[in-house]
Amino acid sequence: MAATDKKNISRDDVNAIEGKGRSPFFPDQPVPVELFVGRSVQIDHIEKRAVGQVAQGKPVSVFLEGEYGIGKTSVARFTQWAAERNDGLLGIYATLERAESMDDVGAAVLEATLRSGVYNPKLGERIREGMAKFVGEQSLFGLTIHAEALRKEAPNITRGLLPFLSQTLDRVRSSGVTGVFLVLDEINGIASNPQFAAFLKAVVDSNAPISLAQPTLPLLLMVCGVEERRRQLIAQHESVARIFDVVTIEQMSDGEMSEFFRKAFESAHLSVEPDALQIMSHFAAGFPKVMHLVGNTAYWLDADGRIDKADAVSAVLFAADEFGKRYVGQQVYAALRSDSYRSILTKIARMGPMEMSFKRHDVERGLTDAEKKNFNNFLQRMKRLKVLRGADVPGEYVFIMRMARLYIYMQSIRATVAR
Ligand SMILES: Nc1ncnc2c1ncn2[C@@H]1O[C@H](COP(=O)(O)OP(=O)(O)OP(=O)(O)O)[C@@H](O)[C@H]1O
Ligand SMILES: [Mg+2]
Repeated sequence: MAATDKKNISRDDVNAIEGKGRSPFFPDQPVPVELFVGRSVQIDHIEKRAVGQVAQGKPVSVFLEGEYGIGKTSVARFTQWAAERNDGLLGIYATLERAESMDDVGAAVLEATLRSGVYNPKLGERIREGMAKFVGEQSLFGLTIHAEALRKEAPNITRGLLPFLSQTLDRVRSSGVTGVFLVLDEINGIASNPQFAAFLKAVVDSNAPISLAQPTLPLLLMVCGVEERRRQLIAQHESVARIFDVVTIEQMSDGEMSEFFRKAFESAHLSVEPDALQIMSHFAAGFPKVMHLVGNTAYWLDADGRIDKADAVSAVLFAADEFGKRYVGQQVYAALRSDSYRSILTKIARMGPMEMSFKRHDVERGLTDAEKKNFNNFLQRMKRLKVLRGADVPGEYVFIMRMARLYIYMQSIRATVAR
């Protein structure tokens, strides 16, 4: 039951809300392994075709593909965690979020290596023993890294990634580690740099044995990004297309979402009723980010330890707003809220929440005369705001981001509920 349902919120209610424990929802972070759900097909594939092979000495490269917020980082981290525990691979997780140059890539990989061994601190200590000049103090908040020393060394890392990783591996072989699992995540900024595609190709090619007897570095290289980034890499270097085994992450199934909600609420000692579960899953529509956002909102709204239908409905409505503000952006948000476009949007939204494209004349058929007059302006404006783009087929429009599309859908439902 929602605290907001009550007219006068008592001190007890406030305490009940403020006194809550830790929310099990992480809308802006990869999910902790304990709450990770689903993705069994992809995980199986990565474990058998990549981790298993690398553990036996054969290098493998994977491109983990999926749209924004779909769960790439979570799968990458989960499989790294499992590979480190079960298969003797050392996980190195490098985010290239701020990388624009190859030196930035080198610095990110070096720093990630210094921070590796998170699941087994002994490994981390061994790795850092040989690299003391880069490491400062170990404080409560983690490791201090000497930025200047890092930057100086960065060009050597990108020029000689394989020898560097090989030396790192040698430091931990005695602990039973047999290979390296390197993740390069968040490649958005660097993917447009042609040197990056050349670098990936060089790393993979120079680790391919000429004969079976030739030693190679047991390296699982996993690059994470949206499809567009992989295409960009291929456009710069055609052979990138054959380097990677592409593993695609898609929307979660209803079963996976229900499992997640149950697990998450249970971990916070809250029960969740079946119709609440159904409402939250329906609106999360397979998007894990939205699932966390809705779950988090329900968690904070609830005041009696039981998530019921009313909590779920309120959570969906609040989450839609939050989602719009945070992910769709101020400009789009304002445009979506203007009266003249809302009715058109609602009609498009009703064509199906998962439909990513629509035909102009299909929408037009259901519009009033006044809406028809506004329709062209609406389409142009949505294109300028990068919500829509024209498809290859004339008269067809495509939503650029599923998130935005979902928000529009949520807005339309919100309008109905409010009526
Ligand atoms: N298997 C899962 N189980 C539960 N929650 C998940 C799962 N996968 C992802 N999430 C949640 O979904 C959200 C997005 O996940 P994540 O950051 O892994 O996606 P991403 O594809 O890497 O996103 P981005 O494109 O922003 O890098 C996060 O809130 C995360 O906690
Ligand atoms: Mg990510």
